[in-house]
Amino acid sequence: MGLLTGKVAFVTGAARGQGRSHAVRLAAEGCDIIAIDACATPGWLTYPLGTREDLARTVAQVEALDRRIIARQADVRDLAAVRAAVTEGVAALGGRLDIVCGNAGIISWPRPTWEMDVDQWRELVDVNLTGVFITVKAAVPAMITAGNGGSIALTSSGAALISGPGLADYKAAKAGVLSLVKTLACELAPHFIRVNALCPTAVDTPMIQNEALWKSFRPDLDAPGREDVTAGFAAMNLLPIPWVEPADVSNAIVWLASDAARYITGVTLPVDAGNQHA
Ligand SMILES: NC(=O)c1ccc[n+]([C@@H]2O[C@H](COP(=O)([O-])OP(=O)(O)OC[C@H]3O[C@@H](n4cnc5c(N)ncnc54)[C@H](O)[C@@H]3O)[C@@H](O)[C@H]2O)c1
Repeated sequence: MGLLTGKVAFVTGAARGQGRSHAVRLAAEGCDIIAIDACATPGWLTYPLGTREDLARTVAQVEALDRRIIARQADVRDLAAVRAAVTEGVAALGGRLDIVCGNAGIISWPRPTWEMDVDQWRELVDVNLTGVFITVKAAVPAMITAGNGGSIALTSSGAALISGPGLADYKAAKAGVLSLVKTLACELAPHFIRVNALCPTAVDTPMIQNEALWKSFRPDLDAPGREDVTAGFAAMNLLPIPWVEPADVSNAIVWLASDAARYITGVTLPVDAGNQHA
């Protein structure tokens, strides 16, 4: 028996990285999964996003655990597509929805705020904040109808908790997610649906492990790699590690969804190796 046997979880950005980790870990704890990913990369992004092949790998890993998964290519900005995935998934998986992971997100290139491109700002905020709102808007009615309560975990970032130059679009959107969590926690408490935010420090996924980001950390090197940025990332954390693993964030998701956290709502949970105090 897993900690979450018989529950249904909806995960956005599930093709790879933390989203895949959440889907597979929740399945290991007994959940059936509804998974979506855009499987498409905005032209201006400096790193590629997840692909259909990545999403198929998530499906295979969940099915290898003998759990069911309904996976669809859908952009979190597209209410109709997200709603269709949720509706289809809930119908196929027994009419319930217990857990939501609003995880899909993108990051921009660090540059001074006044030099940021307005269209890129809009697109990032659209994905990282409005996409989370749409995720919730599509999922909550099914949770209320099922009447089983539930846990909504929205992925913000440690970047929303600290000061520093650059990434104003990303930080503003992630700070917006924290505000969304507080509002939703109040609105959904009568339904026993708990809503919490996760604020990870750097996580070892392709969002940070890519050539463009390595280069932004080490402009002094021609072709920096993962090993060249380790010290720089470690300097941002209190604990002497450069980044946490996706599994560390999945552990928090599972705990928040479990009875062990049954009265925890409206909190901002850093999974950050002490990053905000470093
Ligand atoms: N990696 C980090 O250091 C870090 C730190 C703190 C917070 N976060 C946040 O964690 C979340 C997961 O990121 P990750 O580290 O797994 O990165 P990732 O790039 O590996 O995964 C993100 C996934 O989201 C998907 N996605 C992007 N835009 C989408 C959209 N519009 N609709 C649907 N799917 C979309 C991508 O295709 C990808 O599969 C993000 O919200 C990110 O901002 C990441």
